[in-house]
Amino acid sequence: MIRLRNITKTYGEGALAFQALKGVDLDIHQGDFVAIMGPSGSGKSTVMNTLGCLDRPTSGEYLFKGVPVQGLDRDERARLRRRYFGFVFQGFHLLARTSAQENTELPLLYRGESTAQRRAAARQALAAVGLNGWEHHTPAELSGGQQQRVAIARAIVSNPAVLLADEPTGNLDSQRSAEIMQLLWQLNQDQGITVLMVTHESEMAAYARRIVHFRDGRLDSDQPNTPLPLRPEHVGSHVGSHAGSPVGLGSAVQEGA
Ligand SMILES: Nc1ncnc2c1ncn2[C@@H]1O[C@H](COP(=O)(O)OP(=O)(O)O)[C@@H](O)[C@H]1O
Ligand SMILES: [Mg+2]
Repeated sequence: MIRLRNITKTYGEGALAFQALKGVDLDIHQGDFVAIMGPSGSGKSTVMNTLGCLDRPTSGEYLFKGVPVQGLDRDERARLRRRYFGFVFQGFHLLARTSAQENTELPLLYRGESTAQRRAAARQALAAVGLNGWEHHTPAELSGGQQQRVAIARAIVSNPAVLLADEPTGNLDSQRSAEIMQLLWQLNQDQGITVLMVTHESEMAAYARRIVHFRDGRLDSDQPNTPLPLRPEHVGSHVGSHAGSPVGLGSAVQEGA
């Protein structure tokens, strides 16, 4: 689905120029769940922003479903982004004084969908992240874990093929982090959403099907991983027993507030 070839990114010019990506090759297949790890400054966010068409590489080839993204103009890239990608960030980025429902509807507003369509889709997305009954609460009335789940609902409300999550658990304690990871894993497992997630923590990367390490703007290693919920020691536990169940109905997700 995604193919990066020899991608470079240089920030700034002249003496201040800094090469954040130094020739990255990466293939992402439909249904992948990739954890991107590596030290701070190694280019993880830069590669995510490139993948999500938020930023353009300095050179190299980016093919998305066979389409050369580097050949698209600004509007075409924005359309591709809105149609295929959902984004989740460390800091949630929700609108204050705006309900969970309205925050979740936002991407559909930009697409020009009707009020009824937006309502229904947002309710469904909020239910999928375990926030039934919280639709009319504002971010200030929600815990950090709940706010991140609203952000995930907003990211999936438009049925994206790819979910890009940059340190989605960076602001959460370990219990809430595990719940968010369980949710991302279920979205991947049950709905087939391709997930790319940046994380510093191996406990979070353990949920992925594949772990990629960056170092100094280069891909350092790329290895398959047995996702934590599928490991033998977890089968039969509350995590493993929800494989195949509707997204968000897992007990871990329901309980976490
Ligand atoms: N807009 C920018 N302007 C200048 N330098 C930047 C910019 N964004 C990132 N960088 C630099 O590029 C390098 C890689 O950044 P980033 O991709 O954010 O790393 P990571 O997400 O792995 O911590 C860092 O050294 C960072 O300071
Ligand atoms: Mg980063």
